[in-house]
Amino acid sequence: MERRLVWDLPTRLFHWLLVASLIVQYVTASWLENAMQWHFYCGYFTLGLLIFRIFWGLFGPKYARFSHFIASPVSVFNYSRTLFSRRSLAYTGHNPLGGYVVVLMLSMVITQAVSGLFMSDDIFMEGPWYASASNATRAVMNTVHRTGFDWLVAIIMLHIAAVVFYTVFKKQPLTSAMLHGKKRTKKPAIPSSKLWLAAFLIILSAFIVYYFVVIAPPTPVAEEVYY
Ligand code: HEM
Ligand code: HEM
Repeated sequence: MERRLVWDLPTRLFHWLLVASLIVQYVTASWLENAMQWHFYCGYFTLGLLIFRIFWGLFGPKYARFSHFIASPVSVFNYSRTLFSRRSLAYTGHNPLGGYVVVLMLSMVITQAVSGLFMSDDIFMEGPWYASASNATRAVMNTVHRTGFDWLVAIIMLHIAAVVFYTVFKKQPLTSAMLHGKKRTKKPAIPSSKLWLAAFLIILSAFIVYYFVVIAPPTPVAEEVYY
């Protein structure tokens, strides 16, 4: 079987930039002192990445599209029965079960980035929506941001374990395909990575982030100070 382009360049870049961003987010919040400003910047970047991925899931090349990897419950069930078999069908894009894990991971990271906008470190730094949120909203977002991350780490561990399982047991080298984009398949390669469309969607995503971080948040009402 020939090696053909399956994962376009923007999808691959998205994946590895997401991995790097989450590492930075963890390190700046939990390991480093005084790195909150960088946590905020990288959080906005991650939000932009995710907005881009949603657009890409709608308008990107075939295998990156949600419509291609959100499968019917029947195919998920049928695929699950062959999960531990070495002879299960190797999918060109995400397999039916993996497709849902992708959706779950994306939703969890979005939740993480959005809840961050309502966070405060209780010292100097406030996310752009913190000041205008009620105490109840702040409390919910705080819980979501802190416990959500632990759940995210659990799913990421599962994801990495699954990739190792596919590589070692099922002899399907998925990671190298996420690096160079090519898989051995009988299906046709994607015609192009649609780089011009990607450039446009990156600019649009950056603008949407700018809108939600800088333009839209209501200006905080100055707290009254009594002397
Ligand atoms: C922070 C850690 C990680 C996160 C949040 C993450 C998230 C994701 C997401 C969202 C996708 C779907 C890609 C898309 O369609 O846009 C994906 C796919 C994939 N990831 Fe990761 N990933 C992480 C770490 C890793 C690592 C360390 C590896 C390699 C060892 C890896 C290998 C892969 C592979 C091979 C796929 C494609 C799976 C397939 O062929 O269906 N990921 N990952
Ligand atoms: C995907 C993006 C994000 C991830 C993965 C993430 C991850 C984390 C983690 C792991 C913590 C530490 C939680 C703990 O100690 O229990 C944290 C805390 C925090 N995050 Fe995020 N975060 C993200 C986005 C954001 C954004 C966009 C903002 C604000 C604009 C933000 C603001 C904060 C604040 C203020 C804290 C509390 C720090 C403290 O209490 O010292 N985060 N975040």
